[in-house]
Parts: sequence; structure tokens; C-alpha cells
Amino acid sequence: MPQVRRREKASEEVEEPIGNEEDTEATTEPSAAPVTTALQSPSQSYDVEEIEGVGRVTAQKLRESGYNTALDVAYAGVKELADVLGSEDRARQIIAAAQRLVGLNNFVTALEVYERKRNVQYISTGVKALDELLGGGIETRAITELAGEFGSGKTNFCHQLSVMVQLPEDKGGLKGKALFIDTENTFRPERIVQIAKYRGLDPKEALKNIFYARAYNSDHQMLIIDEAKKIIPKENIRLIVIDSLVAHFRSEYPGRENLAERQQKLNHHIAQLLKLADIYNAAVVVTNQVIAQPDMFFGNPLKPAGGNVIAHGATYRIWLRKGKENIRVARILDSPMHPESEATFKITEEGLIDGEPQ
Ligand SMILES: Nc1ncnc2c1ncn2[C@@H]1O[C@H](COP(=O)(O)OP(=O)(O)O)[C@@H](O)[C@H]1O
Ligand SMILES: [Mg+2]
Repeated sequence: MPQVRRREKASEEVEEPIGNEEDTEATTEPSAAPVTTALQSPSQSYDVEEIEGVGRVTAQKLRESGYNTALDVAYAGVKELADVLGSEDRARQIIAAAQRLVGLNNFVTALEVYERKRNVQYISTGVKALDELLGGGIETRAITELAGEFGSGKTNFCHQLSVMVQLPEDKGGLKGKALFIDTENTFRPERIVQIAKYRGLDPKEALKNIFYARAYNSDHQMLIIDEAKKIIPKENIRLIVIDSLVAHFRSEYPGRENLAERQQKLNHHIAQLLKLADIYNAAVVVTNQVIAQPDMFFGNPLKPAGGNVIAHGATYRIWLRKGKENIRVARILDSPMHPESEATFKITEEGLIDGEPQ
């Protein structure tokens, strides 16, 4: 699992004043996947048939439900697999067999954690100052949250990364594809064309390398993520974008009376995302709207819409704010690694580019 450490102070800064969300299952859900051995790469080498106790019929059931490899089964939760196999006992047995097969252990040494950390890769943002701030770019095996007010550049940022991930490694990409989940109907293929041209990619190829899904409600959004595991390894998807992560959840579960249910669903969703990021060594980038007071940007009055569930789930949180004209300022909060500081960039026809410091 990627690191999900948060500084206490930071979560105070971003607390949403609508109840204690920590009472929900935030801390139990993500641990559904075992801590894994460090050098486990997202290998597709074992078929589900190779798992002890899985015959042809079970294998077919597993595949139909999106468990294409032994690794998918090894990472599955008991409850979700019980839905496929008919009983929790059987699910537990098959998961354990799959874990043995692919060599997953529940305990690893710190050396392995260290090696695993070195296994992460970075997608350049295309903005030098921002890459420096992030220690190389957007990290794989982690969730990065882009938080900011309307117009702060979150959606532009997502478009940019969907192109950047396609670049070869020497140009800052991962030579991979992107999955773009759009909840607000703000995806603009024309922007992809502009950004791709500027970054030296064939625009048509760039468009072909972005899988797009419009999510119509929160259940649909969760279903898309569930189904994503079928195409991620097949298509070499290395970036998963959800723009916006919380909009549907907020509108469908308004108010205090729905808070518990909303947070529970969101927790589950975030746990699924972390799992995908981890298994497939992919970067997950989500956006979250911030309700801000005009005169205080980074002080207490700021509230990210998703509340604490996001604060606990996301590995990195980048706050974006508007500067003069097309200038935007990014700041990283609560990163376990990076000291807090700011980077400036510009939003232009060509996407995000270096901008003068303010
Ligand atoms: N082609 C473009 N050229 C320059 N600026 C653009 C272009 N397209 C969008 N923008 C800028 O991006 C801003 C919107 O940013 P967006 O990423 O949609 O914000 P958010 O998703 O945070 O609400 C607009 O206010 C506009 O200034
Ligand atoms: Mg947007």
C-alpha cells in the first residue's frame, strides 16, 4: 500500500465541520489488501487456473467478474470475492492460495518497503518548478489529490497529465496510457490535441491513448473503477484520473443525515483506487473542489469538499489557487516527504507551462 500518513496539523487545517468522519470505516477498508512484498511487479504471469483449488468453472467465473490473473485474486477482498464464489470461506481459501502462488506475504521487512518505494515512478507535470516541488512529478502507487476553487486549473491539470504520461521516460512520461473518468462533463478532447502538439506527440495517437468514461452518478463511478481492472493491464494504463472525485457523492448524499453513508461509500471507492494504483503501479489523480473564503487562501477557512475521508486517503494533496491572469500557484500539503512550498505555472493554449514566480 502507498503511504497514507498524514500530519495531524494538516487534517485540522482542512477539517470539514459536518461531523466526525473518522468514525467511519476509513481505516479498516484500505487494509483489505495485504501489505505486499516489495519487488512484486504487476506481473501477469499466473493465470487464475494456476491457483490451487481453482478449476475451469471457477476460473471462468473469476474472469467474468474481472479477476483475470492470480494477482487480481490475491489482492481481492473476502466479501467481494464471496459474491463471485458463493461463500466467504471459499473466498478466503482461494485468496490465500492466490497469495501463496504470487508470493504475497503479510509481513515484509523495512528493506522491502524501501525497495518498493524505489519502484515507484513519476509522471512529469510538464512544469519544472512543480516537478521539483513534487520530487520528480506525480507518483505511481499513490493517490494525488488536486484541490482548488472553481477555475483554479484542476481540469486543465488532468488533461495535461493524460498527455504527459504518454511521453517516453526520457521526456518525463511512462510511455503509458490514461484512463479519464469525467463526472462533470468537462473533458475537452480539443485541449488534448493542443497539449499533445506542444509536447511533440501525434494528436490522434494521443487521443487514442486516453480511455474516457463519463460517470453519471456515484454508483456508476464506482462501477467504472471496478471494471477498470480489466483494461488497465491490457492497455498499459499508468494514469487514472477522476475529475471530480466527490461531486456526485456530495450531491447524492447531502447534509449531515447522509454523511455516514456518503463517507462509507467514498472510503470504499478510495480503497479501490489505492488498490489499483498499487497493483498496477499506476498514478491516481483525483480532483476535489475547495470552498474558500476570498481573503484567506491557506488558512483555516478553507474546506475541501470531500472532508477528511480524502485527507486520509490521498497520499499527496496539491492545492491550486489563481494568481494574476493565467498564473496559477500550486502548494503541496501534508506530504510525508516534501516540505511545504509553492510553485508557479501558467495555463495557456499549450496546457500547463512554466510561469514566473509571483
Ligand atoms: N485554451 C486555453 N488557454 C488558456 N487558458 C485556458 C484555456 N482553457 C482554459 N483555460 C483557463 O483555465 C481555467 C479553467 O480551469 P479549469 O482547469 O477548468 O479549472 P477547475 O477544473 O479547477 O475548475 C479558465 O479560467 C481559463 O482561464
Ligand atoms: Mg474542473
